Amino acid sequence: MAHWLITGGAGFIGSHLARRLAALGHDVVVLDNLAQGRAENLNGIPHRLVRGSIGDPAILAELVADAAGIYHLAARVSVQDCIANLMAGHADNVIGSLNVLQAAVAAGRLPVVYASSAAVYGDTGPHASTETMQERPISPYGADKLAVEHHAHAFGLIHGLPTLGLRFFNVYGSGQRPDSAYAGVIPRFVDNARAGRPHTVFGDGQQSRDFVHVDDIVTAMITGMERMQGRQTPEAWLGGFCNVCTGIPTSLIELAAAVDRVIGAVPQPLDFQPARKGDIHYSAGDPAKMQALLGFKPGVALDQGLAEMLKPG
Ligand code: UD1
Repeated sequence: MAHWLITGGAGFIGSHLARRLAALGHDVVVLDNLAQGRAENLNGIPHRLVRGSIGDPAILAELVADAAGIYHLAARVSVQDCIANLMAGHADNVIGSLNVLQAAVAAGRLPVVYASSAAVYGDTGPHASTETMQERPISPYGADKLAVEHHAHAFGLIHGLPTLGLRFFNVYGSGQRPDSAYAGVIPRFVDNARAGRPHTVFGDGQQSRDFVHVDDIVTAMITGMERMQGRQTPEAWLGGFCNVCTGIPTSLIELAAAVDRVIGAVPQPLDFQPARKGDIHYSAGDPAKMQALLGFKPGVALDQGLAEMLKPG
């Protein structure tokens, strides 16, 4: 049976995807350099883990040889990390992605579903981001993610490579780690609430994010791959892309209150710190194109997703 290759499959999103694919009876091969991912994330999931980098075309060539398709999630995921480590971020997020696209072509035009980002939009003002908008990334991370979308489009035209870029908004869920300077805001706030620590808020806390549960992200990826394989609406898949979002903005102040409420903690004080450079103020996506393309809309509400994350054990 042909396997699915997941780059970054030992990471937060990748390991959830591996679990679902394995549960569906698929063979899963994970390529991960274990810089951010952890082998333990894959405990209990039938899989083959290859420790290596998307910077290494030889490893990619070997792993795509009998693959049915590629889920490309390996990336440097933090906006701030990519500001602090510009060239390393560019190498991981752009050069690494080019290696993946090239390997997909060489293996016979394998379909590729890859993680793009809401960060491609930049600051849209208080408007939902739609795919018809002119993208204006305001960080190197967003610029690199947009560059990959443009490359995927060019690969479609030149090589006929089917690709789908999913513009993930802010993904959260169980297994997301709080213990790094670059960790996402939800695991940070959950950790604060559990420890009875104030929530650090960068900026005025009025900035919003469209929080999408990882289970919905996994459904979007698998549905996208299935549709691409079935070649429904083929023209959409040569450099295709769409948001994966709920359409609901939540401010950081609302988020802190929701985390405290769901965990049953007394509201923690907010420790306001200067806004971070490259930080988008308003972010919420328009889910219409995703619904048209994938026939799917995220269904996990924020309170529900937080409650699941906060379950003991
Ligand atoms: C996140 C993802 C990125 C994804 C993008 C899509 C992470 C680490 N980054 O970026 O991969 O492409 O969404 O929209 O998951 N903040 C605080 N206090 C904290 C931590 C963060 O106030 O302790 C603030 C940040 O300044 C920012 C907001 O919370 O305004 C969200 O930050 P973060 O979770 O790091 O995500 P994004 O930068 O939106």
